[in-house]
Amino acid sequence: MDVLALQERILAEVSAAGDAGALEAVRVAALGKKGSVTEALKRLGGMTPEERRERGPALNALKAAVAGAIESRRGALEAAALDARLATEAVDVTLPIRPERRGHIHPLTRTMENIAAIFGGMGFSRAEGPDVEDDWHNFTALNFPPDHPAREMQDTFFLDKAAGRLLRTHTSPVQIRHMQERQPPFRVISLGRTYRCDSDATHSPMFHQVEALYVDKGVHMGHLKGCLARFLAAYFGVEEVPMRLRPSFFPFVEPGAEVDIRVPGADRWLEVLGCGMVHPNVLKNCGIDPDQWQGFALGAGLERLTMLKLGISDLRPMFASDPRWLAHYGEVA
Ligand code: DAH
Repeated sequence: MDVLALQERILAEVSAAGDAGALEAVRVAALGKKGSVTEALKRLGGMTPEERRERGPALNALKAAVAGAIESRRGALEAAALDARLATEAVDVTLPIRPERRGHIHPLTRTMENIAAIFGGMGFSRAEGPDVEDDWHNFTALNFPPDHPAREMQDTFFLDKAAGRLLRTHTSPVQIRHMQERQPPFRVISLGRTYRCDSDATHSPMFHQVEALYVDKGVHMGHLKGCLARFLAAYFGVEEVPMRLRPSFFPFVEPGAEVDIRVPGADRWLEVLGCGMVHPNVLKNCGIDPDQWQGFALGAGLERLTMLKLGISDLRPMFASDPRWLAHYGEVA
């Protein structure tokens, strides 16, 4: 048998094997139990010692050459398969990323955060009260006379008129709850939802207010005016907001005033909030001695403040959950 010819044939088959399966078939045909190389080696057993010494090394070299060729072919095939996989599974890191939808903070929420931060800077902490109030906190303790029109059905959402359960019509009852539970001095603001039977382009049955209350010794209108000036300038982001206090009536303050401002770019006075010195009756209703303590209070609608700042004329989209509106005003608020 021509060992060299056999070796040449097998090595040619090895390099022709195109994949792992074909290569395995070549291996079995050469080195398997009945493979050509195995058979040739078996035949050594029937030879004389001289023949064995002569042919043995060549046959062993054949086996080693075939096994080595198969191993290196296997390595080459595996590397090629890996290269092919890497080529098809490649990630192009230079592709632009897919745009992501980003959420926005609602402009009203942002207004609340801004106002809390501004008053926080003036030493006011936050107080809270329930949306479902009773007649005493919402009206009586705030010095509303029994026949005040705000107590009527057309303004107030009563949940149970006989029991005096209602949705708070303003944030002022939070003043009462805060004062009843502690003794002055204190500075608090309250931000939250309020409710009135009213609905048009500038009124919503559910809206938001901020209430501020400052009670201490020797508090006077000058403190109120200074606080207002600082708040409005900080909120609108200007040096100074032209402002005027117009005498007005609210049962829970005396004297009471409405505040008009000229927002940047506006050509007329716009009413933005109510304020005044806390009425002695209100302090008394909460167990605070009005001869010792004085205070000021103010209340403003947050929708109106937000609309003035952003130049929005219609209130209704604020509660319509239109993502286009939210994205627009969420960006700029
Ligand atoms: N609670 C009033 C309202 O809803 C607003 C208000 C006016 C609040 C005067 C005050 C104030 O604290 O002093 O119309």
